[in-house]
Amino acid sequence: MTRKAFRGAIFHCLDNPAVAGHDEGVEYLHDGLLLVDDGRVEATGDAESLLPELSAEVEVVDLEGRLIVPGFVDCHVHFPQTDIIASYGEQLLDWLDKYAFPEEKRFADEAHASNVAEFFADELLRNGTTTALVFATVHPQSVDAMFRAAQARNMRLVCGKVLMDKNCPHDLADTPQSGYDDSKALIQKWHGVDRLGYAITPRFAVTSTEEQLELAGALATEYPEVHVHSHLAENPDEVELIEKLFPWSRSYCDVYDRFGLLRERAVYAHCLYLDEQDRALMAEKRASIAFCPTSNLFLGSGLFDLAAARAAGIKVGLATDVGGGTSLNPLRTINEAYKVLQLQDQSLPAFEAIYLATLGGARALRLDDKIGNFEPGKEADFTVLDSTTASLTRRRLATTEDVAEKLFALMMLGDDRAVVATYIMGGLAYQAS
Ligand code: GUN
Ligand code: ZN
Repeated sequence: MTRKAFRGAIFHCLDNPAVAGHDEGVEYLHDGLLLVDDGRVEATGDAESLLPELSAEVEVVDLEGRLIVPGFVDCHVHFPQTDIIASYGEQLLDWLDKYAFPEEKRFADEAHASNVAEFFADELLRNGTTTALVFATVHPQSVDAMFRAAQARNMRLVCGKVLMDKNCPHDLADTPQSGYDDSKALIQKWHGVDRLGYAITPRFAVTSTEEQLELAGALATEYPEVHVHSHLAENPDEVELIEKLFPWSRSYCDVYDRFGLLRERAVYAHCLYLDEQDRALMAEKRASIAFCPTSNLFLGSGLFDLAAARAAGIKVGLATDVGGGTSLNPLRTINEAYKVLQLQDQSLPAFEAIYLATLGGARALRLDDKIGNFEPGKEADFTVLDSTTASLTRRRLATTEDVAEKLFALMMLGDDRAVVATYIMGGLAYQAS
């Protein structure tokens, strides 16, 4: 018997509520049934109308009083920075020198890389995240460790080896040729294996020679089916440095474009300091943005302009950017996204917030044919939320009326305590004790 049914409240997005209209493009079922067959969604609907049609042998998992949402998608995160989350007092360039680079050196040791990757994969699931686009380190063995951990959990996960050949410690540097060769070998080894995908990962234009960016672009052209993953326009000092390093460029964004790195399946974290020409270029080239609110606040980087990205037609997904970000939890990330937008007179209604963390993320990663909502045929990755596991949330939720109000309060107050179970392709992958 490969069919299974899950009964509870169900919420998912069929489109972007910000574009389709606030109440459009979403489905909410108060007493819903999610029917899964062989790890894929077969149907969603009202429990009372679907249950009588189900054969008695189909197991029905009772999730009454709980909310089933699609598994969260984290569009940008660094697994090797797990152990330096919440490191005090620096902005981007100094934070890299003081915390990130020294930590990343430890990943030359494969046993250490595996230990962190296993913990990290479990933390993703514990927070309801079922898919992530992940930075490894410059060491190919760090990518092996992350893919093995994801593969063991059957997660849909994209990862890549960092390309970095200047402006970094010498023992973290590759060369244009070794970076190209190692990335190619990793693509051949891992891309498309089970639910895994590869991302060509130049750290940022600061740490690559033009020769390396050129070879990264060549690889991206050779393998259009793999992702490209980097950072763009995160911090004012970084942007100033780019102007010095690439005096010929019109803008930071233009640097990546010159090397063929703006394309479909390219995801750029941050994008705080773009102008309209940059946004038009990203939209034209079909590159996506990972919005990293906790990181942007923690590192004092600035405020992401979601309205401008949306107006330009760029796909945006939500991301934690741990260890610059301060939480792997999507609810806490949404909480800070809301505040980042409030500071700019923009809004983030509940449905759109869920969109950014699910279908929006899937679209940004160009994986929305497989994940992101409960359309029939999609992979049944989902998360079960419970608003009664923390006392203040339970009390506040008792006074809410409609689903938008409930979801909003849950997203502002919730954290990992709200995630009571996570399912991967219909199988239980995490359950709160
Ligand atoms: N830019 C280049 N590398 C990094 C990194 O590791 N974290 C963040 N937040 N920004 C970066
Ligand atoms: Zn990052």
